[in-house]
Amino acid sequence: MINLKVKLAGVEFENPVMTASGTFGFGREYGEYFDLNELGAICVKGLTLEPREGNPPPRIAETPAGILNSVGLQNPGVKMFLKSELPQLKEVTRAKIIANMAGNTIEEYCEMASILSESSVDMLEMNISCPNVAHGGAAFGSNPDMVFEITSRVRAAAKKPLIVKLSPNVTDITEVALAAEQGGADALSLINTLLGMAIDIKTRRPILKRNVGGLSGPAVKPVAVRMVWQAANAVRIPVIGMGGIASWEDAVEFLLAGAKMVSVGCGMFREPALPVTVKNGIAAYMEKNNFQSVEELSGAVQVY
Ligand code: SIN
Repeated sequence: MINLKVKLAGVEFENPVMTASGTFGFGREYGEYFDLNELGAICVKGLTLEPREGNPPPRIAETPAGILNSVGLQNPGVKMFLKSELPQLKEVTRAKIIANMAGNTIEEYCEMASILSESSVDMLEMNISCPNVAHGGAAFGSNPDMVFEITSRVRAAAKKPLIVKLSPNVTDITEVALAAEQGGADALSLINTLLGMAIDIKTRRPILKRNVGGLSGPAVKPVAVRMVWQAANAVRIPVIGMGGIASWEDAVEFLLAGAKMVSVGCGMFREPALPVTVKNGIAAYMEKNNFQSVEELSGAVQVY
């Protein structure tokens, strides 16, 4: 009998598959495609203290094997999330709920962490890696000293386990991973999107109104697997792997690289029930290859 259960920072998940923030909204739409109890966890769209409309359009561009977005953290704000979204989500699923939070300042992150700690969410994910906003976001996540400072302050304000979501737009991922661990992070998630650009050669203008945006999708997967492997080997806290997962085989790669859980993101835009396929595929792979637990599979890559 294989065991798909995973424990991260004291929180037990039925299986290692979750949805990546920003690709699943608050779960309303996807409930029409599959039973949300199939998921280990749902990570909701990035929340800010006040509601945000996000960036002006166009803010999505398709690229070969990927998607560029510059959504700009559109969301209803933390209060509306707690009033309208979290209760409906709790009604339709037993999956663990992770609240992703973003802010302009360290104080805003701290305030959100303390508000969300009083709610029924299971974990907090601190987004210091959004490339689409003028303040906060990746500006915090690309400097190890800043990562240490913000993580320590938010850790002190939070009463729930804290995941720090890292940016791939850095030279050395292990520096920021270690800074987050030293600051008190309970887990890391990576990667957020890679900064990219697409230009319309007829108009000679960038396709995105904000000129640049974050690239995700299968195109980024090898970069993500490499960074997860490096980060997982540098820190002792658990790592959640994501970036371009489009099949169960992709997810197994992340687990072999050292992730304890995986997040499915924009792969769901093409195949809404992808997380279920991924979960079943991981289980079948474990059975066939004699892995009893996800813990055993995690980090089992045999490097040269
Ligand atoms: C966005 O809303 O711009 C995407 C969120 C992110 O990249 O962190």
